[in-house]
Amino acid sequence: MSQLIHDVTRSNEFYQRAGEIIPGWTQLISRRASQFANGISPTYAQRAKGSHFIDVDGNEYIDWVNAVGAIILGHADPVVDTAVKDQIDRGSLYTLNGPVEIELAEELIDTIPSAEMVRYTKGGGEACAVAARIARGTTGKDKIVFCGYHGWHDWYQAANYGVDPESGEYPFAGIEPIGVPQALAGTAIPFVYGDLAMLEGLLEAHQGEVAAVMMEPARSELPEPGYLEGVKALAHKHDAIFIFDEVSCGWRYSVGGMQKPLGVIPDMTVVAKAMSNGYPMGAVVGSREVMEPASRMFISSSYWSDNIGTVAALTTIRELRRRNSEVRFKELGENLRSILNEVIAASGLSGACTGLHTSLSISLDLPDETPVPQANTLFVQEMAKRGVHCGMGFKGTLAHTEEDIRLTADAVAEALGVIKSGIDAGDVESLLESDPKRDPFRRLVR
Ligand SMILES: Cc1ncc(COP(=O)(O)O)c(C=O)c1O
Repeated sequence: MSQLIHDVTRSNEFYQRAGEIIPGWTQLISRRASQFANGISPTYAQRAKGSHFIDVDGNEYIDWVNAVGAIILGHADPVVDTAVKDQIDRGSLYTLNGPVEIELAEELIDTIPSAEMVRYTKGGGEACAVAARIARGTTGKDKIVFCGYHGWHDWYQAANYGVDPESGEYPFAGIEPIGVPQALAGTAIPFVYGDLAMLEGLLEAHQGEVAAVMMEPARSELPEPGYLEGVKALAHKHDAIFIFDEVSCGWRYSVGGMQKPLGVIPDMTVVAKAMSNGYPMGAVVGSREVMEPASRMFISSSYWSDNIGTVAALTTIRELRRRNSEVRFKELGENLRSILNEVIAASGLSGACTGLHTSLSISLDLPDETPVPQANTLFVQEMAKRGVHCGMGFKGTLAHTEEDIRLTADAVAEALGVIKSGIDAGDVESLLESDPKRDPFRRLVR
């Protein structure tokens, strides 16, 4: 039996204080306590190293969230951090431009198949907004047809004015477009992943008005053969720019992005998150033809020239290659999958560990009378008590070890045992010490 962690008092106190002065508690919705076992999962950390972090109460956890995927080499990676500290000593933001900005652009052009020209930002949503602006400016058209999550900006959130007349639900359940200009209603239009006929219908209905088709090429599963090729052909038939948002799926599965192994090259690609191992950085890359008109557009921000994110990204990309990341992520993910599947099979519950090796999650086939949010929250709660921070999913880093996998599997075995005991007693809810966790919004790409 793992040692149980009960005391997250200081985390809970910080969260309470945050609620009084920070609207919405956190800066990223996925960091809210309601995304985990509220009151039992830790919410504030004091330090992190490698595959572990220590919360403000002094408890140590194996981290399978890794800043929602932004940490790829491991927390406080010594090589990246040394490069960053060295840069800090030479100045983080010059009056002039830093040469590293050119060096990183050249590295991205060598690494990402769709890259011939490069622009920078500090985050993923911001980079998506830049991509939307370039697509609109380059084509002279306004509408964007999309499939995926692309951040908080107006161009994208405007999609949620398209209320479903049947259900009254917004395209992204859980997001009301409060504060987004009504005038943008109808300019961002979602399509369902895998449904080429729907996309074709939308492009025909908005003939001559669509600037771009933007999508996440994959998240936790690979697309059906020919699907992305079909999307690209439809986008080009309608003179729309074809954009991949690789903010989440880029880097782990393949250092050049999903486009590399899938062999489908978009006109433009958005990257961020894991590219810089925890330092703010984002980029829009694309063909010369699509990107060059950006030189005449007003796309400009003071901190996009900072040397920290660029140095961190350059070092992270080189380290991924040097550490043979693609092979290691496959090995790590497949080892985790196989041990978790053994544990699930032995638990007496039915379910499986599914998904790409870089995006694994546990899904349980629960009896009809067992509520899924409650069972999932119970899982997260029991894992937290055993020093493992996760949702139902597991996103590793190159710092995760076979020992981390073994300890995680032990915790999963015990957590599933608790769920099984609840199911057998016909009462999972009474084992729950927090409110059921809530998904912030529905995603279009699984
Ligand atoms: C596919 C995708 N695009 C864009 C974003 C937004 O990135 P950021 O949170 O850095 O603004 C995310 C964040 O989760 C994402 O997963």
